[in-house]
Amino acid sequence: MIRLTIPSIEEDDLQAVREVLASGYLVQGARVAAFEQAVADYVGVQHAVAVSNCTAALHLGLLVLGVEPGDMVLVTAYSFVATANVIELCGAQPVFVDIQPDTFNLDPSQLERTLKRLMAKAHRDRMVKAILPVHTFGQMADLTAIMELANRYELPVIEDAACALGATLHGRQAGTWGAIGCFSFHPRKAITTGEGGMIVTNDATLASRLRALRNHGQDPDASLPDFIMSGFNCRMTEFQAALGLSQMAKLARIIAARRRLAAHYDELLRDTPTQAPAVAPDSESVYQSYVVLLPEEAAAYRDELIARLKEQGIETTIGTWHMPLTTYFCGRYGYGAGDFPVADEVFARSLTLPLYESMSQPQQEEVVCALQDSLQLLE
Ligand SMILES: Cc1ncc(COP(=O)(O)O)c(C=O)c1O
Repeated sequence: MIRLTIPSIEEDDLQAVREVLASGYLVQGARVAAFEQAVADYVGVQHAVAVSNCTAALHLGLLVLGVEPGDMVLVTAYSFVATANVIELCGAQPVFVDIQPDTFNLDPSQLERTLKRLMAKAHRDRMVKAILPVHTFGQMADLTAIMELANRYELPVIEDAACALGATLHGRQAGTWGAIGCFSFHPRKAITTGEGGMIVTNDATLASRLRALRNHGQDPDASLPDFIMSGFNCRMTEFQAALGLSQMAKLARIIAARRRLAAHYDELLRDTPTQAPAVAPDSESVYQSYVVLLPEEAAAYRDELIARLKEQGIETTIGTWHMPLTTYFCGRYGYGAGDFPVADEVFARSLTLPLYESMSQPQQEEVVCALQDSLQLLE
C-alpha cells in the first residue's frame, strides 16, 4: 500500500522517547521547556507554549485574545473543522470567508468585503474580535494583505499554522505574523509528537496567560503554587516533547524532501487534466498535503475514484472540509451551496495524493499513472 503519509520516525526518535519512559519523569520536566525553546528559536519568536494539540492551542489562543460568547471571529470556509469548532467552544460565532481558487487560502478581497459589512454596523463593531486565517495544506495565506486589513480594523490575527511549521511568505515564518500562531504535531504534519501543539507569540503577557490556562490556571510566574484563573489541563508530556525535540532536528531535511517530491508531482501532472497545487509568488510551502484539483466532471465520481485507487494499493483522500456545509455549521447557521462558491468548487474537486519523506519517485509515478487510468475508466 502506498500510504497517504508515513511519519519520519527513526531510531534516535525511539531512543529519545525510551529515555524519558525509563526515567519515570513523564510530565512537567525539562524536555517540554527545551522543545518550546527549539520551536521559538526556529521560527524566531520570544515565547512558545507547548500544549496537547493544535485544537487546544487555537482554543486557548482565542480565549487569551478575549473572544467571548456573542463575539464573531472571521475565518476561512475551507479547513479542518477544528479551526471553526474552537470559535464555537468560546461561545462565539465563526463568520466564514470564501477562499482563493488557486492557493485554497482565505481570499483577502472577500475578507475585506465581510469586514466592511460587519464593521459598518456600528452596534456590532465590538463583536468582531479576531481574524483566524489558516495556512492551508502548508502554504501561507496572504498575510501581507490580511495583516493590512487587521491593522486597519484594529483586530488581532491568530494564525492556524497547524500544517505550516517552516512555511514562509517573503522569507518570514508562518505563525509569526499575527498576535498568536498555532502549530500541530499530529502524525499527518511534517514532524510529529503523536498528538501535540505549540502556541507562539512575542507578547509576554499573552504567553503567561497561555501557560496558566494550559495548566489548571496555575500562575506560571509565582514561586509558590497559586491558581489565578480557571484553566484546562492541556499539557504536553515529557515523552512527546522528547520526540518533538528529536523531530525538530530533522525538520529542514523533511521539508526539503517534501518540496522535492512536490516538484516531481508537479512535473508528472503537467500534461494531464489534473491541476497541480499553485504556490503564490515569494511563498514557500511545506506541502503538508499535496492536493490536486480533478477535472470538473470528475467531482461526481471522486468517492469511486478514491475507492478504486485504494483497491490498487494507493491511499488518497479529499482535500479538507467545507466547514459551512458540514451538518453542524449548516444546521446552526443555515448555510447552503452557493454561499461560498469557490470553496464549493474546491471541496468537490480536490484530492490529496500520498506524500511522505521516504516516498520514492517510482512510487509517485505509480500514483499518477493509476490516477490517470482511473480517471479515464470512470469518465
Ligand atoms: C488546519 C488545521 N487546524 C487545526 C487542526 C487541529 O490540529 P490537532 O489535530 O493538533 O488538534 C488541524 C488538524 O489536522 C488542521 O489541519
